[in-house]
Amino acid sequence: MSSSPAAEAARRRTFAIISHPDAGKTTLTENLLLAGGAIRAAGAVRARGQTRRTQSDWMKIERERGISVSASVMTFDHDGLMFNLLDTPGHEDFSEDTYRTLTAADAAIMVLDAAKGIEPQTLKLFEVCRLRDIPIITFINKMDREAQDPFELLDEVSSKLALDPAPLFWPAGSGGRFKGMLDLRNDKFIPYAKKSSTDDEGHPDPIAFKGNAVVQYLDPEEKAELEDNAMLVTEAGKPFDVQSFLEGHMTPVFFGSALRHFGVSELLGGIGAYAPPPKPMPASKNGAETHVAPGDSEVSGFVFKVQANMDPNHRDRIAFLRLTSGRFTRGMKLKAQNTGKAMSVNAPIMFFASDRELAEDAFAGDVIGIPNHGVLRVGDSLSETGTLRFAGLPNFAPEILRRVRVKDPLKAKHLKKALEGLAEEGVTQLFRPMIGSDFIVGAVGQLQFEVMADRLANEYQLEVIFEASPYAEARWLGGDRVDVEDFVNKHKSAMGQDIDEAPVFLGKSSWEIGYVAERYPKVRFERTKERA
Ligand code: G4P
Repeated sequence: MSSSPAAEAARRRTFAIISHPDAGKTTLTENLLLAGGAIRAAGAVRARGQTRRTQSDWMKIERERGISVSASVMTFDHDGLMFNLLDTPGHEDFSEDTYRTLTAADAAIMVLDAAKGIEPQTLKLFEVCRLRDIPIITFINKMDREAQDPFELLDEVSSKLALDPAPLFWPAGSGGRFKGMLDLRNDKFIPYAKKSSTDDEGHPDPIAFKGNAVVQYLDPEEKAELEDNAMLVTEAGKPFDVQSFLEGHMTPVFFGSALRHFGVSELLGGIGAYAPPPKPMPASKNGAETHVAPGDSEVSGFVFKVQANMDPNHRDRIAFLRLTSGRFTRGMKLKAQNTGKAMSVNAPIMFFASDRELAEDAFAGDVIGIPNHGVLRVGDSLSETGTLRFAGLPNFAPEILRRVRVKDPLKAKHLKKALEGLAEEGVTQLFRPMIGSDFIVGAVGQLQFEVMADRLANEYQLEVIFEASPYAEARWLGGDRVDVEDFVNKHKSAMGQDIDEAPVFLGKSSWEIGYVAERYPKVRFERTKERA
C-alpha cells in the first residue's frame, strides 16, 4: 500500500513547458522523457516537431500521432518522484488551450533559444504564468549553436519579464566553441561532447573545475574566461533563493542543448529539487471560500481539457482531470459540482510516455483521463461530495468570428450537435444569435477553423462553409441580473448565447462595444468568462 495522500502529493512535480515555436519544446520534452527513463530512444515525440510545419501536415499528425503525443500529459517515475509533464500545443492559434493547461501546472519550464532570447509567444505565455503565480524555471537551449552573450540573455529576462534570473550553471562558449558548463553550486565542470541524441554513450562525467583534468576540455584562456564570468555572476547577481522562486520573483537558469541531450538531466534534477509539489487550491464549498489541501481525504479535481475521438473507433471523449486532493482509486464515484450528477470512474487512464494504463490510484498533482460521452466539460469540478468548486479556467473572447453553414441543408441538425461537441471540447466557441438560425463560431486564430473543418468532415461527415460573420467581437455580459436583462431586451438583434446559455453581446466592431459600454456603465462587457 502506498503512503498517505499528503506524502504522495509531496513527491509529485506537475509542470508544463512554455516557449516560442521553434525554441525546442518538442526536443526538450523528448529528452526529458529520455533523461527520466520514460522512453529509451529519441524519435517518439520528435515526429511532431518535424511534421507540424505546415497546416495539412499538422492535421495529419493530429490524426496519426500515437497515444504518447496525443495524451495531454506524460507521466514518469524518476528518482523517487512522479513527474507529470503537461503538453501544451505549440502553435499560437491554440494559446487558449495552452492557457487552460497552465491552470493545471504547478511550475513551468521556459525554454529560450540562446540565439533569440525572449520572443513574443514566450512573453505572452509568461504573462499567464505570472497571472497564476506559477514559478518558472528557465532553460536556455541550443548552446551548441552560436548564442547571444549569456549576460545579455539574463538582462533580457530581468528587463522584459521583471524576473530575477539566478543562473545555477555558466556556459563555456557556444556553437562550435561550446565546451560545457560550470555548476556554480558545486564548482563541477560538465564537459560537452558533440554527439547525436541517439548516441547513448553520454557526455563525459562532471569533473572538479579546480582540478587538473579540466585542461582536457578547456584551454587556459577558456578556463580563465569561465572563471571570470562565474565570479562575475556570483558576485553581481542575486543568489538563488527558492522562496523567491516559488513566489514568482526569481527564476533559476539552466543552460544546455536539448538536441544534444546536454544539460537535460541537470534540468530534470532542478525540477525535482526546486519545482513545488501541488499546493492548496482556492475553492468554494457550498458557496463559502475555502482551500483544498493535497492531503485532504476527500478526492477532488477539475477538468482542464477535453479531447474527443482520441480513438477513432470510439466516439468517447476523454476529460483530463487534474487531481487536487485525496487518494483517488479506480471505480470511485465522483460528483460534478455544477450538475450534482455522480459518475463511477471505472476506467481512468494514466498516460505514460509510450503507453496508457488504467490508473489504480492517483493523487493530487496527477492527471487522469476519464472517458465519458460528453458529460464532462472543461471547467467542471469533481469531488466525492460534489460540493467543491474550483474557479479560474477562463474562456477568452474569440478574435475571429465566422458564420458556419453545412453544404447539405438536410444535415443542419447534425451540424448543431457537432458544433456543440467541438465547443464543449474547447476547440472553438459557439454562439447562437437570439434572432435567426445561424451559428457563429469563434476562434483565437485562423488555424482553428481549418482544424475544425477537417474534424467536422472526418469525424462527423459534414462539409461546412465558413462565411464572413456580421459580427466582429464577442463579449460576455456581467453585472446585476436586472441590468443585464434590461440590456439584453434592448439589444436582441445583437445578442447571442454561448453553449452554457450565458448571454453574449455580439458587436460589429470594437468601436461599437466601446460605445454601448459607455451608455450602459452598469453592465460589464467581459473578454473572458470563467467556467466552473
Ligand atoms: P518547438 O517544439 O519549440 O517548436 O521546437 P522543436 O523541438 O521542434 O525544435 C525546433 C528546431 O530546433 C528543430 O530543428 C530542432 O531540431 C532544433 N533544436 C531543438 N533543440 C536544439 C538544440 O539544442 N540545438 C540545436 N542545434 N537545435 C535544436 P528543425 O531544423 O526544425 O528540425 P530538424 O530538421 O532538426 O528535425
